[in-house]
Amino acid sequence: MAESGATKQEILLDVQNVKKYFNLGHGKRLHAVDDISFQIRRGETLGLVGESGCGKTTVGRTLVQLYEADGGKIIFQGKDIVPMTRLQRKKEQLTKKMQMIFQDPYASLNPYFTVGEIIGEGLEIHKIGADKKERLEMVYELLDRVGLHKEHANRFPHEFSGGQRQRVGIARSLALNPDFIVCDEATSALDVSVQAQVINMLIDLREKMNLTYLVVAHDLSVVRYISDRVAVMYLGQLVEIGAVDEVYDHPMHPYTIGLLEAVPVADPDYEKDRKITMMKGEIFSPVNPRPGCRFATRCPYAAEECSSMTPLLQSVGGDHFVACHHPVR
Ligand SMILES: Nc1ncnc2c1ncn2[C@@H]1O[C@H](COP(=O)(O)OP(=O)(O)OP(=O)(O)O)[C@@H](O)[C@H]1O
Ligand SMILES: [Mg+2]
Repeated sequence: MAESGATKQEILLDVQNVKKYFNLGHGKRLHAVDDISFQIRRGETLGLVGESGCGKTTVGRTLVQLYEADGGKIIFQGKDIVPMTRLQRKKEQLTKKMQMIFQDPYASLNPYFTVGEIIGEGLEIHKIGADKKERLEMVYELLDRVGLHKEHANRFPHEFSGGQRQRVGIARSLALNPDFIVCDEATSALDVSVQAQVINMLIDLREKMNLTYLVVAHDLSVVRYISDRVAVMYLGQLVEIGAVDEVYDHPMHPYTIGLLEAVPVADPDYEKDRKITMMKGEIFSPVNPRPGCRFATRCPYAAEECSSMTPLLQSVGGDHFVACHHPVR
């Protein structure tokens, strides 16, 4: 379990009221990320969970500027990157400092390039290292860091297993010596034992290279294992955020409770203690959304104000925040 005593550390990323909307035509706008605020401290891992389609990947892509935010601030190392032009972002070296690792390592590796070329490409583009020879030495070192060998540099992606390919993808993102990495389902496609190796490697690299992670994963146990804090998302908004053990052991938002309880447990005694066994009901539409809590239509505790007033994230003690008019205590 990662340490969660990071309170006094420098804030690496301060996300304030960030929005990302997709135009669907005919005046319809999908509020994929709708007014999200959170901070990530240097050296910390923040987990991001929530059901499929709630906006986790969109958050990650917006943070690393694969998408332009439609509003809000993303303050990275003290500077708001949202209003910056491409040139300013380049000057600030943001494309080096922020990286994203994706789920499918095969789709993201060019099949016509050797692994050495794939890992070295960024070094070449950014003119890191004096010459080809020095860059090759750097590639060897990166291969070593991710548990691969020098000899692997001359091989092509199809000659590797899924776990090895993900290691290549990680080496590529480490090549530019980033500060911040979004891992979006980075280990989901791997089988369980390989997944554990790659996760442990990510933790190890975080310590050695002073990295900060946002980890998106469906597997809640993976998120608990790797994260210091966790943020729970529901239909484009954050509903709960706090230290990972606190949120997992004392969830207060009805959605978080439902999400955690949906994890199958092979224990009949546990089954009878379940507070919220199912989440039924119509799903709130994130297209041109009306005010109110987005979970209200499925929430067993919903009261009148829930369908008219949007709840804001509020502290329920220390570092634990919940956006709910009636948090479950
Ligand atoms: N490029 C796009 N254009 C239009 N809509 C999009 C686009 N990308 C995502 N969306 C929509 O935005 C919402 C959030 O999608 P996103 O991929 O961020 O969800 P997610 O939480 O990562 O889901 P999953 O767990 O399945 O990966 C979804 O409703 C999705 O259909
Ligand atoms: Mg996703």
